Amino acid sequence: MREVAVIGVGTSQFGKRSDVQLVELAWESIREALKDSGVSQKDVDFVVTGNLGMWSSEPLPAVVISEYAGLNPTGTMKVEAACATGSAAVMVAYSAIQAGLADIAMAVGVEKMNESPLHNVVEFIGRAGNYFWEFQNFGLTFPAYYALHAVSYMAKFGITEEDLGLVAVKNHYYGSKNPKAQFQKPISIEEVLKSPYVAYPLKLYDCSPVTDGSSCVILASEDVVREYTDTPVWIRGIGTASDTANLSKRKEFWGLKAARVAAEQAYKMAGVHEPLGFFDVAEVHDCFTIAEIMAYEDLGFAKQGEGVELLKEEQTYIGGKIPVNLDGGLKAKGHPIGATGISMIAELTKQLQQRVEKDRQTDIINGNALAHNVGGTGHYAYVTVLSLNRR
Ligand code: COA
Repeated sequence: MREVAVIGVGTSQFGKRSDVQLVELAWESIREALKDSGVSQKDVDFVVTGNLGMWSSEPLPAVVISEYAGLNPTGTMKVEAACATGSAAVMVAYSAIQAGLADIAMAVGVEKMNESPLHNVVEFIGRAGNYFWEFQNFGLTFPAYYALHAVSYMAKFGITEEDLGLVAVKNHYYGSKNPKAQFQKPISIEEVLKSPYVAYPLKLYDCSPVTDGSSCVILASEDVVREYTDTPVWIRGIGTASDTANLSKRKEFWGLKAARVAAEQAYKMAGVHEPLGFFDVAEVHDCFTIAEIMAYEDLGFAKQGEGVELLKEEQTYIGGKIPVNLDGGLKAKGHPIGATGISMIAELTKQLQQRVEKDRQTDIINGNALAHNVGGTGHYAYVTVLSLNRR
């Protein structure tokens, strides 16, 4: 199999972006990634656009973005995997290179969620499960889906709302150090606990926000990588899995089976036996605070029921066993659905190359990083292992 590496990354400012059109927002990250990699538009062999898009007006975002970014006549497509759309776009770009169809491929994710009123956005996201059985019959929204996970986890393992809030405190702390994050203010645990309930036990500060933003990565085959960079970040392992549309068909609610299966695949491919000690840094899908705790366990950073201990001991801060979400995560950086997975890979690439802001740069010892991106409640899961070292 041909090896594939990340050679350039870009991320737009995240937040409410009524100042730009969808294509301009996408261009912010594309322009940065082209500059970062030294690749010019004519060198790109294939473009994959990640976009869920039901809240914005462009039905064919891949086409308008490629035209605006000067990428025509290069082939393009749009992919969708709910909140894991960005990682799916990276996997398609990676596969095209591996298959020999491209030497340089771009994955760009973009979302303008604030183009629709919030109540519509909440409804659109709520439909992502099994529309007929769960949304239409019971009216579940996404905060409510993850609230079911939280209630179930709290009942089984005895954790508290304050324990959940530790995720928000950590991720807002790192968001405050990321100039591209939607929220750049640290918060205290008291503020989390005082914030209004959205769906018990999840409060405002347990939720990721509604975000506009874009992110882009440029991938290259091993045959051309050295023409562009001396510090490629190799995609050393990649895994994906899915689970039932209906939550009611699942056997347990205190973890996501799809994430565990995706991690197993990615670890096998990358030769990871013990994740703690292998990874210098991770990005995990903290769409709601409970999701980050379940991710620690699904990824093997902690035993089931013990994820909160990592937070209490500050092991997922810089200096701990496995620093997590040093860009603020979905919680504080923001969650523009189609861009999120790509922004994780962009952040980890810069962490591995030691070029993020000084006060949120972790030590790179082994040169390995992990991205965990979930769509729905494990309807899709993608795990990607990045490394400064080839397989
Ligand atoms: N975390 C922290 N602060 C938030 C926030 C969040 N998630 N969402 C909004 N805010 C802040 C806003 O900045 C604003 O502050 P201000 O008054 O100081 O300007 C205030 O809270 C109200 O913002 P508003 O835009 O009116 O949001 P809201 O309160 O109506 O919506 C949620 C909050 C939680 C309902 C909304 O963010 C949401 O639906 N999040 C989940 C998105 C989702 O499901 N994504 C997919 C996950 S799988």
